[in-house]
Amino acid sequence: MSGPASLVGSDEEELTNYHTPDETGLTKSQKVALIAAWSIVKKDLVEHGRNIFVMFFEEYPQYLDYFDFASGSASELGENRSLHAHALNVMNFIGTLIDYGLNDPALLKCSLVKLVRNHRKRNVTKEDVGAVGGVIMRYCLKALEQHRTKTLEEAFGAFLGTVAAAFD
Ligand code: HEM
Repeated sequence: MSGPASLVGSDEEELTNYHTPDETGLTKSQKVALIAAWSIVKKDLVEHGRNIFVMFFEEYPQYLDYFDFASGSASELGENRSLHAHALNVMNFIGTLIDYGLNDPALLKCSLVKLVRNHRKRNVTKEDVGAVGGVIMRYCLKALEQHRTKTLEEAFGAFLGTVAAAFD
């Protein structure tokens, strides 16, 4: 008799988890939406990464001082290989967090600890990460226009919130 009863129990748990954030900060439905969205973004990672960082430096030119490619205007930056390399680093890192970290909270936490450690050395703050996160979210939601849903918007917000919170 305990078999069916425990099956019902696990079904209920499954249902609850679907709408309740776990230690990653996201619900299951948000994870599904974000992983699916990222599978589209990563097809053109170089182009999207470059566009995101050109947009970021146009909006926040003060952040150019952190980098070694701080020469020329924001539009010339689009051709700068050092910016491309950095954009790819960031995009690949975010992709790893989404594709592997969302289904493995311990790995997510460990990756974020390393990110924070490396960026603290460069005096990057939670606010700075929030600024780049905001640009990444706005850009991706626009690029994913026809796939845009409320769940996806919430998923991006929750995910970037988790990344920023690691800098607390
Ligand atoms: C979502 C937020 C961010 C992610 C995922 C991210 C990720 C990365 C990764 C993977 C690297 C290369 C590995 C390393 O050297 O640690 C890197 C380097 C770097 N990041 Fe970030 N980063 C973020 C935000 C920022 C912000 C807001 C700044 C400053 C405005 C920044 C400044 C730098 C600098 C100066 C480097 C080294 C130089 C370079 O690679 O060209 N990062 N970042």
